[in-house]
Amino acid sequence: MKILVTGGLGFIGSHTVVELQNKGFEVVIIDNLSNSSKRVLDGIFAITGKKPIFEEFDLRDKSKVEDFFSRHRDIEGVIHFAASKAVGESVEKPLLYYENNIGVLTYILQELSKKGNSRFIFSSSCTVYGQADTMPITEDAPVKPAESPYGNTKQVGEEIIRDICKVTPHLAAIALRYFNPIGAHPSVEIGELPIGVPQNLVPYITQTGIGMREQLSVYGDDYPTSDGTCIRDYIHVVDLAKAHVAALQRLVNDENKDNYEVFNLGTGTGSSVLDVIKSFENVSGKKLNYKIVARRAGDVVEAYADTKKANDVLGWSAESTLDDAMKSAWDWEQKVRS
Ligand code: WQD
Repeated sequence: MKILVTGGLGFIGSHTVVELQNKGFEVVIIDNLSNSSKRVLDGIFAITGKKPIFEEFDLRDKSKVEDFFSRHRDIEGVIHFAASKAVGESVEKPLLYYENNIGVLTYILQELSKKGNSRFIFSSSCTVYGQADTMPITEDAPVKPAESPYGNTKQVGEEIIRDICKVTPHLAAIALRYFNPIGAHPSVEIGELPIGVPQNLVPYITQTGIGMREQLSVYGDDYPTSDGTCIRDYIHVVDLAKAHVAALQRLVNDENKDNYEVFNLGTGTGSSVLDVIKSFENVSGKKLNYKIVARRAGDVVEAYADTKKANDVLGWSAESTLDDAMKSAWDWEQKVRS
């Protein structure tokens, strides 16, 4: 079965391509290389021995999207990762985010609506919950007004998919709300390749550990949490990738109860920023240079997943611990910088 993975050379996309190939799916990747590199194809091949079909173009070009689907009529499912994902950048460049994250989504859904039986897996985010009122967060927690255009594109994206599925019975979709993806494939053949100064905590930690960054700034330790720093649910990217295959198989096997479903993807465990630093020091044996600075605007205090629905309905659960994920991130950082 041929599956299209948009953004398949990106961080989560490439790990998902590996898991799809491991389960025997034939993979076609579209990527515009805006936040990835063709070298990732070699990494995927090194792990699975299979080279995905790769087409480089920008999905914002609607005519190219139409041409692609006319040439690949045997595609039976799409996992859609291709999107802009930097919260801060989205505040500066909202139009870029609405064109790339919403416009492109409608082009792909238009193509899928024309086909017969098709499946769509959407890369969503726990950011749709904002600061949820109760922990752990279930899929029924209210979606709150987005704090950034990026977060809004995830909320609006989910609503677009829901509305289209209502009138397109032959299209089945699942939105996966990720918590905080971290780590790298244990083979150290693929991993996160942040461009420029990393915005996210774990790549900043490993770059500080390797000496690329002078010091980690911890954005506030005066939050109402056990140690004053923010709590997140850090999930190993390989566990996250396996969840995408489980979601696709649910649709392929017609096990879905509705043709639009939503699942939280996390470990169910909350970890503070200081816990993550301690995890790095445990797995690396190095002391991390960090200092406490002012809070970062837009950060929520606490977010970790209630994983019951994914466990019971999707038949998936995260297997790796924070230390496992941190070790894989550190191994990858050392390899990339070697
Ligand atoms: C985690 C914690 C920071 C960097 C974002 C997006 C989310 C998803 C994942 C795309 C927070 C603290 C961070 C640093 C720090 N992105 N931190 N110093 O903000 O939870 O989620 O990335 O899908 O949608 O919102 O992740 O890694 O940026 O921050 O203290 O240099 O680490 O304050 O408490 P976040 P993060």
